Amino acid sequence: MKGAVGRIYGQASSTDFSFVVFDPREIGRTDYVKVWNDVDGWVVAQIYDVRATADLNESDALLGRDAEKEVYLAKAIVIGKRDENGLLRVPKTPFVPGENVFKADSEIITSALGLESEGAYIGMLKDSDIRVNLNINSLVQKHCCILAKTGSGKSYTSGVIVEELLERDVPLFIIDPHGEYSTMGHPNDNPEENEKMSIFKVKPKGYSNKIRLYVPPNSPFADRADGILRLDGLNLTAEEIIELTGITNPTSQALLYQAIKNLKGRNYTVEDIIAEIEEIKHNAKWGLLGHLEKILESGLLAKESTPVHVLLQNGKAVVLDMRGVPPEHQDLIVSRLCSCLFELRKQEEVPAGMIVIEEAHNFIPERGFGRAVSTHVLRTIASEGRKFGLGLMVISQRPARIDKNVISQCNTQIILRVTNPNDINAIKKGVEGLTADTVEEIKRLPPGTAMIVSPELERPVIVNVRVRKSKHGGASANIVKQKSKGKKKGKQEKEGRGEKKSLLRKMFG
Ligand SMILES: Nc1ncnc2c1ncn2[C@@H]1O[C@H](COP(=O)(O)OP(=O)(O)OP(=O)(O)O)[C@@H](O)[C@H]1O
Ligand SMILES: [Mg+2]
Repeated sequence: MKGAVGRIYGQASSTDFSFVVFDPREIGRTDYVKVWNDVDGWVVAQIYDVRATADLNESDALLGRDAEKEVYLAKAIVIGKRDENGLLRVPKTPFVPGENVFKADSEIITSALGLESEGAYIGMLKDSDIRVNLNINSLVQKHCCILAKTGSGKSYTSGVIVEELLERDVPLFIIDPHGEYSTMGHPNDNPEENEKMSIFKVKPKGYSNKIRLYVPPNSPFADRADGILRLDGLNLTAEEIIELTGITNPTSQALLYQAIKNLKGRNYTVEDIIAEIEEIKHNAKWGLLGHLEKILESGLLAKESTPVHVLLQNGKAVVLDMRGVPPEHQDLIVSRLCSCLFELRKQEEVPAGMIVIEEAHNFIPERGFGRAVSTHVLRTIASEGRKFGLGLMVISQRPARIDKNVISQCNTQIILRVTNPNDINAIKKGVEGLTADTVEEIKRLPPGTAMIVSPELERPVIVNVRVRKSKHGGASANIVKQKSKGKKKGKQEKEGRGEKKSLLRKMFG
């Protein structure tokens, strides 16, 4: 039949069928097809396997004989069709062997998958020109995660979502350990990416009027920042101080708990804790006092702290560039700021918005993979944030090391290429609706191609993530790589590490 790409053979049910592919160049794995069903009309299915077979046994192959002709066989899983009430129906009656299989058109795919006509434009359905838009409310209020191995395009994809949210004036607070997001102020000037813009129908655009850059005290980037972020350091808990200072001695820890217990019931500063410990008659206090003095010297805490409500503002993305900040300080900063933001949000003193967390495994580690004082508040936001209009976007290259509960709380899950077996297992546990075939597909995703799983979508969809309108922070490092390929990359990475070390020294001695 004209236009058919294949024909059903063998046994077929109403949920899956096999078909002979007429021309393997026309159709392949993950493509969508449609088949006529006598009761339901046109029904959409997706190909999950294609293989070639030929009348050629081992000895034929060994002796170099050629097959008469190879045959391509595909297997497809039925997605269904929308009924008049907009509900997806899978036919009750099986497909009939001998029925022709056609390429599905955009309209029927969009309708069957439940793709939105509006929303955050993240890219196009793989190998098609069908736009994939994500529902903004679900994305922001019900949390989102981006998981992938390093270099697969997590930050790039997160930047695409940030652009879409900024265009709708959604307030964003971005925790940026590698200083990658402030470049969003500039239009994308990468020539290769600019070439692809016509395919995705986007234009270069900078968001300088919407990006606000904050840095911690002593940051070497302070001159570029819109503000310095100082924590008030009021009422630090013993756990926070232990995390900050790394005190392991049980006697020192006990003295600290005692001093803080004595101060409970009023607002206290680190100086108050020091005064309290000075009163204690115990030799272990001297080491502890040294640690507490170091907290004061770091300059992180201040009497005049940054008002936390500046972090969520309508139409703005506040980027907290934490380059060079020691991990234990980053952890405390995130914990304190997110707790304050959550409280302010509950009292409606800041607008509804989203917290974007890069390297999230450092801030909400899975049990057994380290501790972080920020874990508690981030878990709370993951489970209760949606009630109060505070969303999370968690980004991580180590899905196995990030709290699985937080991953399962994310309504929209964006997964790029992952190959590590532990990470794959973690994704299987944390992401609902993945079949063995879809998990296999994750291992094969090329860079910049994502699988998106969400209750709003009937099935996981594979998306070619669109090019960025604004400049990608990680891209500047690649300019050198382009000119001189592999060799210089290593050098540059080393220099990057060197820069980080010297920053650490500069900031915290
Ligand atoms: N959708 C895309 N379109 C074009 N290029 C892309 C896309 N996604 C990723 N890239 C390219 O891949 C590079 C790596 O992407 P990105 O910086 O987002 O990786 P990552 O997963 O965040 O890595 P890391 O774990 O190191 O942070 C980018 O610099 C960009 O050049
Ligand atoms: Mg990244």
